[in-house]
Amino acid sequence: MHSLWSFALGFLPQIITIAPSRSFEGACHHFELNLSGVLLNGTTHYPANTTVAITTPQSSINATDLPAFCRLELVVTTNATAGSTALTEVWLPDDWNGRLLTVGNGGLSGGVNVADLGNLAVKQGFAGVSTNTGHDSHPGDGSWGGPHNDNAIIDFSFRALHLSVITSKQIVKTYYQRHIKKSYYIGCSTGGRQGLKEVQQFPDDFDGVVGSPANWMTHLLGWSLHVNQQVQPITSPSFMSTNLWTDVIAPEVLRQCDALDGLTDGLINDPRICTFRPETLTCRPNQNRSTCLTSPQIFALHHIYSDYFEANQKYVFGRYYPGGEDVYWGGYASDTPFSIAVDYFRFFVLNDTSFNVADYNGKVLDIAIELNVGGFDAVNPDVSAFVGQEHNGKVIHYAGWADQLISAGDSIHYYEAVHRFMTENTELDIENFYRLFLVGGMQHCVGGLGATSFGAAGDAQPALSHDARYNVLSAIVRWVEEGAAPDNFTAAHYRGGHAAQGVDFTRPICKYPLSVRYVGGDPNSADSFECALLT
Ligand SMILES: *[C@@H]1O[C@H](CO)[C@@H](O)[C@H](O)[C@H]1NC(C)=O
Ligand SMILES: *[C@@H]1O[C@H](CO)[C@@H](O)[C@H](O)[C@H]1NC(C)=O
Ligand SMILES: *[C@@H]1O[C@H](CO)[C@@H](O)[C@H](O)[C@H]1NC(C)=O
Ligand SMILES: *[C@@H]1O[C@H](CO)[C@@H](O)[C@H](O)[C@H]1NC(C)=O
Ligand SMILES: *[C@@H]1O[C@H](CO)[C@@H](O)[C@H](O)[C@H]1NC(C)=O
Ligand SMILES: *[C@@H]1O[C@H](CO)[C@@H](O)[C@H](O)[C@H]1NC(C)=O
Ligand SMILES: *[C@@H]1O[C@H](CO)[C@@H](O)[C@H](O)[C@H]1NC(C)=O
Ligand SMILES: *[C@@H]1O[C@H](CO)[C@@H](O)[C@H](O)[C@H]1NC(C)=O
Repeated sequence: MHSLWSFALGFLPQIITIAPSRSFEGACHHFELNLSGVLLNGTTHYPANTTVAITTPQSSINATDLPAFCRLELVVTTNATAGSTALTEVWLPDDWNGRLLTVGNGGLSGGVNVADLGNLAVKQGFAGVSTNTGHDSHPGDGSWGGPHNDNAIIDFSFRALHLSVITSKQIVKTYYQRHIKKSYYIGCSTGGRQGLKEVQQFPDDFDGVVGSPANWMTHLLGWSLHVNQQVQPITSPSFMSTNLWTDVIAPEVLRQCDALDGLTDGLINDPRICTFRPETLTCRPNQNRSTCLTSPQIFALHHIYSDYFEANQKYVFGRYYPGGEDVYWGGYASDTPFSIAVDYFRFFVLNDTSFNVADYNGKVLDIAIELNVGGFDAVNPDVSAFVGQEHNGKVIHYAGWADQLISAGDSIHYYEAVHRFMTENTELDIENFYRLFLVGGMQHCVGGLGATSFGAAGDAQPALSHDARYNVLSAIVRWVEEGAAPDNFTAAHYRGGHAAQGVDFTRPICKYPLSVRYVGGDPNSADSFECALLT
């Protein structure tokens, strides 16, 4: 516990400040660093509601509703011998809530996450931290990895983020002349992987971690190409066009699955209750092939909607769950190879630029698993150092049931691995440190047909309120600082995907293994649903 004394002392400089905004502006412009291996390369103070328009290879922000903050641009040395560096930004709101929030990246990028720094951190009073992970690239581009760009690979794996967090803790303390109450993390996809990596490897960096992870990269990227292979190339007899996914498969999935949660509303709250049978769409002789499925297509769908096992029955990854077909029309089961996966095998695993989707097989997967290049995988089920009594860290993990880029099955798989490990090896109860929330109709990280706005990483739309019942970031803060764990969230689906257009409907997000079920009343209100065990 931090002492009350240091907390009270920390407040003094603010109390004696007469014109806070002017003084923060000055403090920002005149901020000086004296940390070895860290260069300050820019200080900008943005007044409240001024236009903040910044684009990086990771994300962009174009906001006019942010509170006043100071933007520090840093160059952090990650390996002095190699001369490798990471670009890291620290955003410091004038009206600081005393907490640090580090935000993650996506794909194989490559850029400071300015969107989450603004929309999540600064807007909610946190000092925000984000790094480009040691290189600049679009999330879909892995050509920076090699061959053998080992320092960049390690930076991307964990080093750039870890060093950025350590550095930022110093900077934030110096800037505000106050101690940091608690340190948090939020990230999705690669961002989720980064968060779990920290939990497993650098337990002191954060007190609370929120994430939706690509934490098993070796297996995930194998699965991506496995799904690609079910339908590609476009000339394959098992290829399915966008039109087949949206106009033929999607309606049949809903016909078979939608009503099972008690409500026919075009949304599958929990796909575990339904096994999709594509055979019902089998083409009759002479039937128009744009309206039905051939045997090779049905065979492909069975693979896509089943967990992926190696030939020796070893589990590789989860499956597509029914429910995302019409808005996401197939995800990896489309006409284009998944560039992140292709680049991963080309530039990190095999170091062979001629590698293509067709070259993928179980042997290639085994090489990837064996090498685990850069130590990307964040799958250690032993999280004792983070969650044990000494540190008492908390994890909120969420994932979209309709995510076709990372099967929600991966989230369940890791959660249950931690569950088993921590039960077998400690006296700790997973309920007290790690909770998983699966979101009906949510695609990759954000968006989809469901109620998906609850303050998640990458969501430019706000949660319904800052209250912990609605906002996952408030929930982790409450859990860490008050010991009150979240049981569920009430999330919003906004009209046209924009909060400004009003709330379309609200719905609960239930804690795994519970399932959302309609109990009666207004289907647009979360109050008409319960969280119940699957029967
Ligand atoms: C920077 O920090 C070092 C080590 O703490 C100290 O020796 C040095 O005087 C400092 N330099 C300035 C300009 O403050
Ligand atoms: C530092 O800032 C200057 C001016 O904006 C920019 O040209 C330069 O690339 C930056 N250096 C690094 C390492 O980002
Ligand atoms: C910024 O905009 C918000 C919302 O319009 C308003 O409440 C607030 O007073 C503005 N702040 C300043 C400093 O202009
Ligand atoms: C930011 O948004 C405004 C208003 O929509 C638009 O006029 C402007 O071009 C945008 N700026 C950038 C850099 O995208
Ligand atoms: C730093 O880079 C050098 C040169 O590439 C390399 O030999 C060394 O192993 C690296 N150190 C670490 C800790 O990564
Ligand atoms: C490819 O390069 C990476 C990074 O240097 C290395 O870790 C990996 O072992 C290499 N792969 C093979 C098959 O040699
Ligand atoms: C086959 O069905 C598609 C989609 O409904 C339609 O656009 C097309 O005109 C049909 N083709 C024939 C020959 O009827
Ligand atoms: C959500 O959690 C709260 C607090 O535990 C509980 O009162 C409420 O019934 C839960 N809502 C649902 C839909 O389960």
